[in-house]
Amino acid sequence: MSATVIVGAQWGDEGKGKVIDLLSEKADMIVRYQGGNNAGHTVMIGNEQFIFHLIPSGIIRNKECILGSGVVIDPRSLIEEIHLLRSKGVSITQRNLFVSRDAHIVMPYHKLFEQLSEERKSSRIGTTRKGIGPAYVDKMARVGIKMGDLINGKILKEKLKERLKDVNSLLTRIYGKRGFKLDEILKEYMRYSRFFSDYVSDTSSIINAAIAKGKFVLFEGAQGTMLDVDFGTYPYVTSSHTIAGGACIGTGVGPTKIGKVIGVAKAYTTRVGDGPFPTELSVTKQEAIRMKGKEYGATTGRPRRCGWFDAVAVRYAARINGFDSLAITKLDVLDDLPMIKICTGYLYKNRIIRDFPTGTDEVRALKPVYEELKGWRQDITDIKNYRSLPINAKKYLKRISLLVNTRISIVSVGPRRSQTINVANSVATSATRRSGGRSDE
Ligand code: IMP
Repeated sequence: MSATVIVGAQWGDEGKGKVIDLLSEKADMIVRYQGGNNAGHTVMIGNEQFIFHLIPSGIIRNKECILGSGVVIDPRSLIEEIHLLRSKGVSITQRNLFVSRDAHIVMPYHKLFEQLSEERKSSRIGTTRKGIGPAYVDKMARVGIKMGDLINGKILKEKLKERLKDVNSLLTRIYGKRGFKLDEILKEYMRYSRFFSDYVSDTSSIINAAIAKGKFVLFEGAQGTMLDVDFGTYPYVTSSHTIAGGACIGTGVGPTKIGKVIGVAKAYTTRVGDGPFPTELSVTKQEAIRMKGKEYGATTGRPRRCGWFDAVAVRYAARINGFDSLAITKLDVLDDLPMIKICTGYLYKNRIIRDFPTGTDEVRALKPVYEELKGWRQDITDIKNYRSLPINAKKYLKRISLLVNTRISIVSVGPRRSQTINVANSVATSATRRSGGRSDE
């Protein structure tokens, strides 16, 4: 199978963890390409729940797992994750975990700067406070410290000493805080340096070699398209390239090597953190979906904001990422609803628009235009094939497929591996083809 990118089509938390877990059964290698421990990918195996923040979930299947150069790594958090997984019986060694020497590391001052800047802002982003944004800022400002520097204690000391000059003068002069002590950080990070010395390598060459040998490589996106630093609802975004193109940038693999892109979208929409969200339901109406879908952040525990499926946003994601197909997750969460809405356009300045606008002010000002579909009011959590789904559930999926102009290849009806429907040649697929590759909007 060709190299495949799995990417979130909404604002993150689409259920990528489950989709990646399913596909990783056949994969040889799973690669994370951006973000850091702000992500939380949940996988249910039997009755046990695993939440991954940095390590690809494929590690459970003992596949080769890679943290690419585009990832930012908090070494303490990564070590904790490794220990936690090992305590659950997962084997993690230098033979199945490889960390890019070019991945930047999250330092204690990144977390502090993030906290201070969020507290000062009049309109907060609502970040996860893991120091991810400031770590990427240092990377772009060319003052960051990489995993390759970390494992070479001498370089770590030199770079940190230099960086702390600026960091401490900002902290003391601008924020009126105490500065960081070089020795204290070094003492902690030298422990990490020893721990990671066997894991750090030139991962671009490992991944390219695997692709050249015809191995099945999966690229695991974190967050979602609408949180992409360029194409999301800026500035309410994360600081990395969450889109499929990020897989190349964040791993050192050329675009010609990528064979397929699968978008993952929930059957409704959620968002955690601040920022515009056109189809957000009123506070009381969100509750039913939040309770049934257990919509609480896997990293921060914050309640997720909930709303209807936004076909305009997902169609935009299909364009930006070039989806070959869609995986629709959590369809079962809508089981009890008598009526379900899909957003098919937006009302903006007395005009209906069908494309996702780029400016945050525009997104805030628009009103979603909905189409209403009848619910199926039936428990679908045990259904194993597309044909057996209730007719109204099939109508809903078909409508999504048409509006997003993308065929649906996977439908998830519950958290377990077994609660997955592979849609081989669905009605939705042929309907998309019949429309000549265009949506009917
Ligand atoms: P940051 O990535 O911590 O800088 O947070 C920036 C925005 O992205 C905030 O709105 C976060 O809530 C959101 N965010 C970051 N990681 C995730 C994720 O894994 N799922 C959903 N939202 C996320």
